[in-house]
Amino acid sequence: MNNVLIAPSLLSADFSDIRNALKRIDEAGADWVHLDIMDGAFVPNLTFGPKFVKDLGPFTSKTLDVHLMVEHPERMIDAFVNAGANYITFHAEAAVHIHRIIQRIKESGCRAGISIVPSTPVSAISEILEYVDLVLVMTVNPGFGGQKLITKSVSKVSELAVIREEKAFSYLISVDGGINSDTAPLVREAGADILVSGSSFFNSENPILETKLLRGIIEV
Ligand code: DX5
Ligand code: ZN
Repeated sequence: MNNVLIAPSLLSADFSDIRNALKRIDEAGADWVHLDIMDGAFVPNLTFGPKFVKDLGPFTSKTLDVHLMVEHPERMIDAFVNAGANYITFHAEAAVHIHRIIQRIKESGCRAGISIVPSTPVSAISEILEYVDLVLVMTVNPGFGGQKLITKSVSKVSELAVIREEKAFSYLISVDGGINSDTAPLVREAGADILVSGSSFFNSENPILETKLLRGIIEV
């Protein structure tokens, strides 16, 4: 079985009680902390910036998985590197010089990810797949938590898994949006390595159980 990593998204946490949200992630046995950065321009919502990410550092030892949903991502790379990000993922739709941005992230000592929204095909990023550490497939239109997974997007996960196998590339495949215990089997079977979970994780009364369900260790 594919050993997936679970990345709860703080977007669905109570922003007035973030230390407790990090504790919940730890106690649930989840793997990464997913950080949704929204600028109110690329997506119609605003979240938090590099200072917020930096302030988390002393309270978690998890991999910090920064998902930039911003225009001009190149302007924000250094700030998030300095904030302690481990992975920095930006959107193909928000950048022209994607290769340059990926190089810059990697030269800074971070891992680089590229993301595509539901209307963008995998072919749009085919030229840069060999350079990235992670591909984030959005399975909802980015901007808000709690939306329903767009089933058609799941085929992009399988497509990316096939390309990786054929070309011996090494990126991780992450899925983001509408992942819960019902939809997790679909994306796991398609070949996802990382499951981002916002509302399903933070709204659950039993995050330990929820994490196991998402991983597929136990079934409902
Ligand atoms: C959506 C964000 C997601 C969001 C997922 O734009 O990128 O990371 O937190 O939330 P759920 O799991 O509730 O769909
Ligand atoms: Zn995200």
